Amino acid sequence: MEVVILSNGEQIAALAADVIVRLLAQEPDAVLGLATGSSTLGVYAELIRRFRDGEVSFARARGFLLDEYVGLAADHPQRYRSVIRRELKESVDFSPGAVTGPDGTADDIRAACSSYEETIVAAGGVDLQLLGIGADGHIGFNEPGSSLASRTRIKTLTEQTRSDNARFFRSTDEVPRHVLTQGLGTISAARHLLMVATGPAKADAVHRMVEGPVSAACPASVLQVHPHVSVLLDDAAAARLELAGYYRETYAGKPSWQTL
Ligand code: GLP
Repeated sequence: MEVVILSNGEQIAALAADVIVRLLAQEPDAVLGLATGSSTLGVYAELIRRFRDGEVSFARARGFLLDEYVGLAADHPQRYRSVIRRELKESVDFSPGAVTGPDGTADDIRAACSSYEETIVAAGGVDLQLLGIGADGHIGFNEPGSSLASRTRIKTLTEQTRSDNARFFRSTDEVPRHVLTQGLGTISAARHLLMVATGPAKADAVHRMVEGPVSAACPASVLQVHPHVSVLLDDAAAARLELAGYYRETYAGKPSWQTL
């Protein structure tokens, strides 16, 4: 796991965009794992800017969403498919049908989850998975207690996550209780995991993810056993890291040929 501590969200978005732009230059048909939430919005804005500047094309790429609410109407603005369409897809050149997500409106949820897993495998697996982290250490919507080997399935949100996400709705009551999420096993199958986290509300979860035990109590700690993980943090999100000095020194002295 490589931990990179930067000064602000703009630097984080720029570095994350560098990684994605480079991947698409090398592999134009790369499969991207797309996360929702505030943390990744800056990355998408930066990718749109670079697309407009002619630096990147998504024309041959595929995108798979991490998660989705269950029960929101197909045209609900907070449905994650709508969010990704608004924040990235409609402003770049993905082909029609190239971006998909778990179907939270399906009558047969179990079948929808299995078929989502099959679609990801049929696409060749995810090359780069963008991730945020919840204040309780969740990734995707894998709340504490999630099996480290889990696949796409239905989960029940904790009250903390519902209240954290209430800012996107009119009230906490409107936040769905149930969600579909790629499992921790699904996420771990991606070839490169790129996490972005900013602000003091994430400091404890980041500390537990990077320096705590690998445990379902902190689902993001599963990243410790993945061979290629980059964690991009601002100073506030890194504030509780015991080895912050070492991570800074390592990044500052990184050989120029070595990319994330
Ligand atoms: C949400 C999403 C996650 C996201 C996390 C943090 O509930 N399901 O994918 O990483 O919680 O969200 P934010 O970036 O808004 O803090």
